[in-house]
Amino acid sequence: MKNSSSSSPGTKTGPAIRINKYLALCGVASRRAADRLVESGQVMVNGCIETTPGIAIRPGVDEVVVGGKILALPEEKKVYILLNKPRNYITTNRDERNRETVLDLVDVRERVFPVGRLDRKTTGVLLLTNDGELAHRLMHPSSGVDKEYLAELDLPFQARQLSVLTSGMQLKDTGEKTSPCKAKILQGGLQVVVTLHEGKNHQVRRMFRSLGYEVKKLERTAYAGLRAGRLRRGEWRYLTSVEVEQLKRGGASP
Ligand code: URA
Repeated sequence: MKNSSSSSPGTKTGPAIRINKYLALCGVASRRAADRLVESGQVMVNGCIETTPGIAIRPGVDEVVVGGKILALPEEKKVYILLNKPRNYITTNRDERNRETVLDLVDVRERVFPVGRLDRKTTGVLLLTNDGELAHRLMHPSSGVDKEYLAELDLPFQARQLSVLTSGMQLKDTGEKTSPCKAKILQGGLQVVVTLHEGKNHQVRRMFRSLGYEVKKLERTAYAGLRAGRLRRGEWRYLTSVEVEQLKRGGASP
């Protein structure tokens, strides 16, 4: 999917990538020629000759040597992207089952990766970046970044259960305890806005399930104060420099 503003560039380390792509990014050879280099035993990974062209390596972690030289990726400029995620896209860098991933929606040269996860069926605000340090900081439980969700339920949510939801509750499936959060009932209870500061796996769905509701639709309406605004599902934009600065300071107020 296309975006409107100019491109920019990331980190030396990032997610694992195929070795042929790595060799091409380092300027050694085209991807196809890189496959031949690997097959012919001219590439060493972590001190051993590697002859499997499909193998993945971790840039900045694995040492890759060709012709006696240790390779390094050219420095990338950092990019910060806000995607309005549609349903049915997986939040990962590569899917083993070849399903569509959020990276298929973002056509940038830089090796960006998603900041945290949204379930396949969840829509809404998802950040992608190649700034590993910031991503790590935002994803750390101590970051306390605001994540606002709009959950559509199968049954009207009972106002008397609001305090259970917001004061920190036990999830029925694993017994984990959630931290206190904010919640607001809309549409006679069929919708609830929940603002969390943490991100346990499938947390919103599990919180409602523990209270006897099924989440029919789930949208992340804000992340660290950032909203999709005019972006339609599947569209993305670069963050402005002001938004990046706000994120680095821990996020804007929603
Ligand atoms: N909670 C969920 O249940 N799913 C998401 O994708 C995000 C939060």
